[in-house]
Amino acid sequence: MLSREENEMLTRVGRGTPGGEMLRRYWWPVGFSQLITPKGPPSKVRLLGEDLVLFRDGAGRLGLLALHCSHRGTSLEFGRVEDSGIRCCYHGWLYDGAGHCIEQPAEPPDSTFKGRVQHPAYKVQEIAGFIFAYLGPDPAPLLPNYDLLLREDGERHIGAGHDYCNWLQRAENSVDQTHLVALHAPEYPHMALKRPLIGWERRPYGAKISMHVPGVTKPKFSHWIFPSHTRHTTARIGRVPDHAIRFRVPVDDTNTKTFWLRFYPYGESDKGKPLKIETVGFENDQPGVYQRVEDGWWGIASNDQDRVAQESQGPIYDRTKEHLGASDGGVIMLRAMVKESIDATLQGKDPIWTLRDPAQNRNIAFDASMEEIGALS
Ligand code: FES
Ligand SMILES: [Fe+2]
Repeated sequence: MLSREENEMLTRVGRGTPGGEMLRRYWWPVGFSQLITPKGPPSKVRLLGEDLVLFRDGAGRLGLLALHCSHRGTSLEFGRVEDSGIRCCYHGWLYDGAGHCIEQPAEPPDSTFKGRVQHPAYKVQEIAGFIFAYLGPDPAPLLPNYDLLLREDGERHIGAGHDYCNWLQRAENSVDQTHLVALHAPEYPHMALKRPLIGWERRPYGAKISMHVPGVTKPKFSHWIFPSHTRHTTARIGRVPDHAIRFRVPVDDTNTKTFWLRFYPYGESDKGKPLKIETVGFENDQPGVYQRVEDGWWGIASNDQDRVAQESQGPIYDRTKEHLGASDGGVIMLRAMVKESIDATLQGKDPIWTLRDPAQNRNIAFDASMEEIGALS
């Protein structure tokens, strides 16, 4: 159970809040490379409570700028992307990807005004078909090279779902393995309502989680990557098993986007084939709308089970009313590490899993496994 003040500190994501300042020390996925095309339509993005516009200029360079024009506030979402930047639709100011104002059509020809306008601009990087953004102070840490972002011997599917709740509810789900035997019982019938033995080992990146279920011979290993990501495997009934990474991205205090990557390694017959990428893009999740099924359990379709569990906790779950048991050790550890990282940030230090050494960032591999997909490697 948390006090009201602790709950506020751990959940708020806005600029200037303790949690928001900590979360700004990380790279976050905000879009898909394939969907942001040169001189294509600009895309409105919301991250950590800030409204932004994402675009790719005619030279292929990405830009991520504050959404509202520095002149008189019109949304750049309605602007036009040109060879060298994005032009506001209201009075035609043109900004490059670094936020420099490079044209002001209505100002006198000898005006130096544009040179004195710096529009807020943020760093972006592309990897594996995702576009990542960094809103924090310099120097930015490295964007981690997780194994599945680099792996090319199979099919990589990428997309993003919307969760109508605070990011911490989604993050806590990363270390809450207990829910597999209940919420996902329809998908994992051999584990249904069995008492699991769960271990959480703290690691530099977050935690390695092991789960032993009576009658299932091998343990399931998965990883929580600080602050809110998972690297795991799934083998739900009716679905092809996959290796997966999920980035739970704080959109604002009450909205989260889950960017996901599923990787399907090629079998013997496909060995040597080039990587195949499928960009599913943004899924159309609506608040309170869940696909229902008849399964003798909760009656919720596999893909919506986690949304139901975490969204129905409330937009920002009130943790002053909860009752945590022994099986919630991971949730307790996660909150302590979030708090530790907030404290470090407030003291001007790097929070947990701030990656700065390129030698540690060649290929960050994880041993996520599960008996059902032991054949995957
Ligand atoms: S409001 Fe954008 S150019 Fe005037
Ligand atoms: Fe789940």
